[in-house]
Amino acid sequence: MMESGQPAILEVVNLGHSFVHNGVAEPVLRDLSFAVRPGELVCLIGRSGCGKSTLLNIVAGFLAPTHGCCLLDGECIDRPGPDRCVVFQEDALFPWLTVGENIVFGLRGNREARRRYQEEAERLLGLVGLAGYGDYLPKALSGGMKQRVALARVLIRSPRLLLMDEPFGALDAQTREEMQDLLLELSLRRQTMLFVTHDVQEAVALADRVLFLDRTTGSLGGQLAIDLERPRDREDERFQRHCARLYRWLRRSTICPP
Ligand SMILES: Nc1ncnc2c1ncn2[C@@H]1O[C@H](COP(=O)(O)OP(=O)(O)O)[C@@H](O)[C@H]1O
Ligand SMILES: [Mg+2]
Repeated sequence: MMESGQPAILEVVNLGHSFVHNGVAEPVLRDLSFAVRPGELVCLIGRSGCGKSTLLNIVAGFLAPTHGCCLLDGECIDRPGPDRCVVFQEDALFPWLTVGENIVFGLRGNREARRRYQEEAERLLGLVGLAGYGDYLPKALSGGMKQRVALARVLIRSPRLLLMDEPFGALDAQTREEMQDLLLELSLRRQTMLFVTHDVQEAVALADRVLFLDRTTGSLGGQLAIDLERPRDREDERFQRHCARLYRWLRRSTICPP
């Protein structure tokens, strides 16, 4: 749901990052630039090791780039902040806290504010399809349910930008599709998202726009607007054409020689 003309929420400008191995700086990202606009769901695809998590960690503020910068609403990102929340592949719920306690964990305020957070947690549990599970411990939940809790836990913070690093990678195909439907609902509510995946079908099912991070060059190797109406039919010929194009890009992207 791109709205051109509106200023970008996220701007990545000439970003570069190197990791030092045996005293030698090895570049992972080189001169990477792109923008994400309000309400957009942008998927970033690329082969394993191309730097997707590195990029997300920089945007989250966990890692400082070697070159260039990321701007959130025009301000340079130099630390983590509540305006950007990350959902990782493996849930990171506290096993000794209930689902409800996990969701409100770390939110501070007076008694009135805490009561409002509790109510909001209940509402969000409903939104992610887990109404009534507030008193459960994480160990009593399946992987997919835990990822729903992880999502509720970031949504309660109303992030300006939701960052997802292969959040459904460990789920079975059916659960994964249910989670994708949930993300599309968030997208309809105009949540801005940057979603990392190596799964072409997932990217085409979800994205307004797919960015391809090329492992060979460490920068953008292409981008593709997915102009298909939702819900998207995976059997549709146009869906498959988009996938075929992305597969071609991925096949071309080999490992850089050291
Ligand atoms: N903390 C780190 N120290 C050194 N090298 C790293 C570190 N994190 C990632 N790398 C290297 O950077 C490259 C990109 O990693 P990553 O961003 O995790 O890729 P992706 O998420 O696309 O699979 C890989 O070659 C990886 O080995
Ligand atoms: Mg990764």
